[in-house]
Parts: sequence; structure tokens; C-alpha cells
Amino acid sequence: MNMSQGSGISCNKGLFHLKTPKSSYLFRITEQGHPEHIYYGPRVRSEDAEALALKRNCQYGTSVPYAPGDGEYCLDVLPLEWSGEGRGDYRPSPIELRGADGGFTTDFRYVSHRRLPGAARMDCPLPQARGAAQTLEILLRDAQAGAELRLFYSVFPQADVITRRAELKNVSKGEIEFSRLMSFSLDICADAPLVMATLEGGWIAEAHMKERRLTGGTVVNESRTGFSSNRVNPAFLLREESADEEHGRVWGFNLVYSGGHHGSASQDAHGCTRVMSGINPARFRWQLAPGESFCSPEAVLCFSNEGLGGMSRAMHRFVNRHIVPEYWAGRPRPVLANAWEAFMFDYDEDKLLGMAKKASRLGAELFVLDDGWFGVRDDDRAGLGDYAVNRKKLPGGLEGLSRRVRAMGMDFGLWFEPEAVNPESELFRAHPDWAVGDAGREPVYGRNELLLDLTRPEVRDHIAENVAKILDTVDISYVKWDMNRHMAGRDGAFMHRYILGLYELLERIFGPRPEILVESCASGGNRFDLGMLCHTPQIWASDDTDPIERLDIQKGLSYFYPLSAMGAHVSAAPHSQTLRDTPLETRYNVACFGCLGYELDLRGLTAAQARQVKEQIRFYKAHRETFQFGELWRASPPDGREGFTVVSENGREAVCGHFHRLVSAAPPMESLPAAGLEPEAVYEVSTRPQRMELGGFGRLIGHALPVKLPADGAVMRTVGKMYSLPDSREEYRASGAALLAGIRLKNLFNGAGYNRDVRLPGDFCSNLYLITRVGKTK
Ligand code: DGJ
Repeated sequence: MNMSQGSGISCNKGLFHLKTPKSSYLFRITEQGHPEHIYYGPRVRSEDAEALALKRNCQYGTSVPYAPGDGEYCLDVLPLEWSGEGRGDYRPSPIELRGADGGFTTDFRYVSHRRLPGAARMDCPLPQARGAAQTLEILLRDAQAGAELRLFYSVFPQADVITRRAELKNVSKGEIEFSRLMSFSLDICADAPLVMATLEGGWIAEAHMKERRLTGGTVVNESRTGFSSNRVNPAFLLREESADEEHGRVWGFNLVYSGGHHGSASQDAHGCTRVMSGINPARFRWQLAPGESFCSPEAVLCFSNEGLGGMSRAMHRFVNRHIVPEYWAGRPRPVLANAWEAFMFDYDEDKLLGMAKKASRLGAELFVLDDGWFGVRDDDRAGLGDYAVNRKKLPGGLEGLSRRVRAMGMDFGLWFEPEAVNPESELFRAHPDWAVGDAGREPVYGRNELLLDLTRPEVRDHIAENVAKILDTVDISYVKWDMNRHMAGRDGAFMHRYILGLYELLERIFGPRPEILVESCASGGNRFDLGMLCHTPQIWASDDTDPIERLDIQKGLSYFYPLSAMGAHVSAAPHSQTLRDTPLETRYNVACFGCLGYELDLRGLTAAQARQVKEQIRFYKAHRETFQFGELWRASPPDGREGFTVVSENGREAVCGHFHRLVSAAPPMESLPAAGLEPEAVYEVSTRPQRMELGGFGRLIGHALPVKLPADGAVMRTVGKMYSLPDSREEYRASGAALLAGIRLKNLFNGAGYNRDVRLPGDFCSNLYLITRVGKTK
């Protein structure tokens, strides 16, 4: 089916209909000139607007009607596309403005509208969605306040998503000032109770989904750190209480912005919920001189009648097609090996090359040198801001290292943290005033560093020149752009200008070098947002690489972000943060649901582990497009298990990951948590061959051997380095209908007997199943 059929924007006698393949968004201009929201839900006809609109046939006590003589026209109960202060609407307002008349009242009313081809470009460095779209611009004016407001609506039919943003212009002869300008405001009047879901957490615990039933009042989803933050992601959703993963109504929201954000859902006494999102208004004040304008970041809205999964898949398509830089849209991402968790700052060229050699033999395509290659940087207390290569560690310089890595058949990638400076650095000694400070107060440090003032052009010039020089002299095909602290001590307007400076800088460096793959990072996912994704096609999801923690983190992110956007690496076990010992295969099985990398000292792998890793990389490469760009379906099997299925775009293959947390002694009879398949297709299912280390069996291994040897003795340890046991393999042929109903898997090992068909459990065990379409049932 052509996804974009019948999509677009229609305007008829003050009624506007935004149509995506599966949703309708309807609003109209009232007799008083206010944009009245009518409906955002499954596709309907424009002719249905009157019937769908909220009826206005009685007054509400204590309400403040808009105009004398019409008590039924009250802004407080009218669902609106935008609202103001001082004319009877007491719900949270998307704008707070001191107008040319010196007052705080705003009453924006319709002047005109026009349709624009594509996604109308903003006149500022804020990033924005691109590609096939249609745009509607509604011009509203409040003459007394001296301000014009343009509401932009873009329809992206290929993604089933719309975007909204607002632009404020001073049309008076004096200055006006505002302290809040949301990107959108939307009043959803649902019959059913609503639940709001947000992605919350902190360092090494990003994006855990939290749900709250809305019961009146305002629930706020905001970051006050100056960045989109690891505490509260800008993305959130509302769902009808009865909606689940695959059924029911869900409204998803996100923001194309990397600074402090503010989203909220406020429910009034009539069950109507006002949703808005935009730049965080805390400590924010912005003056507009006559003729000046201000653009809010673009907000992303998606309605799905197919539950959370439907909303997620639309958001994924949107990011993959309309957000990431064009060059990387749909372009496969390399399997990388990163030296950070292997060596941190403690390395020299020999260690790096030793690891690179191993990585290339195992099939990695890109070797990444992380922190520590410049200045005096042997820990995180010094060196940031400097770009001179540390010749003690790298006598051949970056050029020498990259040449030798390339000679091994891999690409070379490099880490930068250009936004920050350590006081202990050449740069700080030369330009102490370039650091972001708090006039007259002692600076507050985060990871021993200060941010550089990206609002200053000379600071941006310095960074751009230094980074570009390295990119142009060293053969670099990947950059990890890191940033490791929150902002402090400055007001909201400064924070916004910083973010604009950052976008300008990224565009300046990478715009002319589109083929460099940039992975952004902020102590992991401290800036995981659509603004960064417009410049950097992938983001390091978390500094936590423990696969069990990652199940929650990657699952949380997957509600709004595609797997192609998430950096996910296999690291050492026991894990450095949780001390959890997990099977190598599970670490891989989780990292597969993202852009795969290895972040451990590969030189230390045993022969048995090296064979596993080689096979893992081979499998990932063979199905990479499915993992990175396939459609994701989440299942929630019982007992804390997780099931993720990715289905290739053409539906020919799928991979289902089945993950256990803690196993129980009497394991339940499990079925395969596959989803997203065609009921009428026939599939072949087979377990990805994987192995289990002998050590995992403890003394039980003795029962499997012809000769009795102590399980922890030297002989067994040596044997364990060379050999591992194959996990059981299952093969089935079944219809999609049967797979969706849940085909039964073989029994798990329970201590009462072992044969090659028994699935080998143990806490944190997991499997991948390759599902190939081989025909039709009829
Ligand atoms: C924080 C990042 O999240 C890590 O992956 C690593 O790059 C370190 N910074 C390096 O200092």
C-alpha cells in the first residue's frame, strides 16, 4: 500500500484537516478568530468535523466568557490549538509575553493562512525535519500586544507523523519580552482515562519508562540541566488506559531540541487534557526588538490506534527518513570496536594496535580511539580543550595510528569532547574567559570540567578549526562527539543560545563532510534527542553496557527512537558497574538491537570466546539492515522476560530476541515471543547457533565428561578456554498465525537431565531466532 495515499492538508472555510495515512487532525477558526482544536485520532472525513466538535450550548458557572452577550463562548472550556492569558482561559498557557502595551494579556486571533510545499525552513540554526512533507502556516495576531504568531503544521505522510512549531514576531514599535513560548499546545478531550508515560532516569540508568494515570492537575516532563538530559527525555506519550502494546489510542510527542525542555499534560475538571512542549521556561527571558522573530523548536506529534507499538514504528520511520542527515538515512552502520572500556586512559600504540588487530580478525569494521589521545590527559582532570596529540602514547601520531588501522582493513574513528575545557589545559590558561561562568561566583565543575561558551563566535571558530584540521589530516570516518556535564549558573536564554551555537558548530564541521558518521554522546544518554540526531545519526545510549540494564534502557528509548539511533556495545563481564556476570552471548544478543560494537579488551578473549565473537559479528552483518532499520515489535512475556522482534522492510526475514532475567528452578513452559509477522505467511524458524562456556556449568560439567576432572582445576580451566558447549538449536516451520499465537519452545534445563535438545538456562540467558518467510498458507 502506498503509505502516503490521501495524505496532506485540506483547508475549507476555516476548517483545516491534516491527514496522514492513519490519522486525522482537525481544527477550525471560531467566529471570534481562535483556532479551535476539534479532533486528533483515526482517519475521518472533513465533513465529520461538526459532529466531532465539542458542543457549546451552555454556560459554566464562575467562568469568564470571552465577550459580552455570548456566555457560551468561553476560552476556558474550548479545546484550542493555542491560547493566551487574560481572556478567560485559566489553563496553563503556551505563551507568557509582556507586550508592547506593557501588559501580560495575549489574545492571538486568526489573520490568514497559507500552504507551503515541503517542510518550511526556519530562519535560525535550530535543526528541523526534512523530506517529503506539506506545511500549513496559520498567522495569528494580537495587535495590542504588538505581536504576530505563526503556527506551522507539517504533515509527513511517509512516517504518519505531523510536526508543529510556533514563531513569534514583534510587530510593534517598541521592545517586547517573553518568558515562555511552547512549540505547540493541544487540547485532547478523550472519553477514557489517560495515562502519561515518560522516559526517566539518570547517568547509567537512562530512559526507564514511568507511567502515571492523569487524575487532574498538571504532570510536568522537564529537564532543567540546560540539555535534554538523562533525567527526563523530551519524548513522552499519552495513552488511553486500556491501550497496550498493539491496541488502542496513543498520542506520542517529541521535540527536535537538545536544550532544557518542558512538556506537560494538564487535565481539567471536564476531562480535557492540555498537552504542550517546548523550551524550558525556567529562568528564561527573551527580548524581541521591533521586527525581530523567535522560532520555537519543532515538536513531533504522532497518533496511533495500534497501541504503543504503532506509535513507536511511526516515530522510527520519522527519525530514519526525516531526521538523521540525508547521507545516513537508511545507510548501514559499521560494527565497531571502541577502546574506552578496555583501557580508559591507560594505553599506548601497542595496546591499541593489539586490540585493533584482534578486532579486525573478528570482523569489526571500525576501530575507535576514545578519550585520552591529546594534551596531558591521563585521567579526567586535565587536557580538555587541547588538541595536540600525546606523542608519548602515540609516537606515530593520529595519522600513523589511523594508517595502521586502515592497513588492517578497518576504518578509523576518533573521540572528541569539543564543548568542554579543563582548567588544567593550555586553552584555559590562554582564554579563561571562554569558559561558561557565573559572574562573580566560583565556578561549579562537573567531571572536573567547564563548558566552553558556544554563544561566542570566536569560541566556535576555535573549535571548528581544530576539529576540522584533524578531520582533514587524519583519515577519519567516524567521530564520537562527547559532552560530560550539565550546564550551571546561567539563565535560560543563555542556555538556548548555547544550543543554537552547538547546532551551528555541528553544521559547520560536519555539513561539508557528510560521509563522516558522527555518534554523539553525553556521558551516555544525557543528550539523546532528535536535535542531536539531526546532526549525528546515532547516539551512545548509555555508559551502562550491562545487558540486563540495557534491556530497560534500550526498550525505553525504543518507544520513540529507532534501533539505528542507538549505540549498543558488548563489554566485559562481570560488568564494571553492576558486577553482574552475564553470558557473552546475551551481551551480544542485547547489543544486536542497536548499532553493534565491542568495548572490551579483545586481546583477552579466550580462543572459545573469540570464535563466538567472530560468529556473532558474522550473524549481525548478515542481518544488519533488519536490526538497524527493520520494524520493531515489543512483546512482554511473563516472568520478567523480554521479547523484541525486528522485521525487515520487505517482510522476508525477522529476528526475535528472547531474554530472561532471573530464571526459576521449575521453569515455565515458554513460547517464542515473536511479533509483527504476517498471519498468512509460512516461516522457517531457527535458533541462532550459540555456545555456553564450560565454566557456567560448575561441577556439573563432570557428568558430561568421560574422565573425571575437578571443575575448577587447571585442566578444566585450560579446556574451557578452548571449547564451549553448543546451546540447543530449535527449528520449526509454522504459519505466521501460529507464531503470533506463540509456538512452544523446547524445555529448559532443570537439573534432572541434559541432552542436546534441552535449552541451557542460567540467569540472564537469551537466544536469537531467525525467522524467514518461505511462502503463503494459501
Ligand atoms: C563518557 C562517555 O559516555 C564514554 O563512552 C567515554 O567516551 C568517556 N566519556 C570518555 O571520557
